[in-house]
Amino acid sequence: MNAEHRYGDVLYSHQQDSELTRLTLLGRLTNEHTLRCLGELRPRPEWRCLEIGAGTGHIASVLAHEYGATVLATDLDTSLFAPEQTSNLRIIEHDITTESFPDGHFDLIVARYVFEHLRERDDLVRKTVRWLRPGGSLLVEDFSDCVFDSSPNEIYAQVMGAFFRTLTETIGSDITYWARRFPQPLAAAGLRDIGVDAALYPCYGGGLLAEILRLSVDQLAPSMISTGSVTETQIRELNALLADPDFFDLGLISVAAWGRRVG
Ligand SMILES: C[S@@+](CC[C@H](N)C(=O)[O-])C[C@H]1O[C@@H](n2cnc3c(N)ncnc32)[C@H](O)[C@@H]1O
Repeated sequence: MNAEHRYGDVLYSHQQDSELTRLTLLGRLTNEHTLRCLGELRPRPEWRCLEIGAGTGHIASVLAHEYGATVLATDLDTSLFAPEQTSNLRIIEHDITTESFPDGHFDLIVARYVFEHLRERDDLVRKTVRWLRPGGSLLVEDFSDCVFDSSPNEIYAQVMGAFFRTLTETIGSDITYWARRFPQPLAAAGLRDIGVDAALYPCYGGGLLAEILRLSVDQLAPSMISTGSVTETQIRELNALLADPDFFDLGLISVAAWGRRVG
């Protein structure tokens, strides 16, 4: 797989059998933290909101059905979007890297676990800020892998390290440096009243994050093995660890940052 591949072409395509499960588990793990951060922005019923890369659609659904806002959700592939579409919740196929929206249109834009996978991430923050009306807010949330390197568990540190490197080499994701810099990309795009918050998700063998990591590594394992960055045995050892009820280690850190367009 060469560096021209993008998220969703093959890797993490919504047509992969395990993708609905992987994204559903991801939501179960992370929705509470995201919704707490969203609450800081006090969404209002008269707001026009955009969720980029909405996946299974839980965040868009809460904005539409609990806050009563008008929500446009987008994704490259809308087939996993679960909520029923209503007069105030629509989903469209839209590629954030090549398509646009009118400047000054939205009161709130949310992008969760999307920019980390797109090579143009800094430009995309600037692009989405233009779509905000003055006073509107952008909320971005992405993962940092900063605890894996220092794990006392060799297999966990080695295989997960190889996984994050291969993710960068194949589809251009950046789980190492991007979210670790938050909220700098938002400040650099001119946003003000910046907020930031982070959640650390521990990895318990057999638990939610362990299963998400297993499913994520599983899709990339053939590339990792073919480039020699890990062996099949190491992948098997990681999977055994992730299923072991006695295993515990720190896991992913999810960093959310938000800010307001002033002019
Ligand atoms: C890791 S998933 C996160 C899904 C959802 N935001 C969540 O937090 O559960 C990344 C999502 O971004 C979407 N995506 C990837 N590249 C995109 C692009 N260029 N334009 C729009 N959506 C994209 C994927 O199809 C996928 O649904």
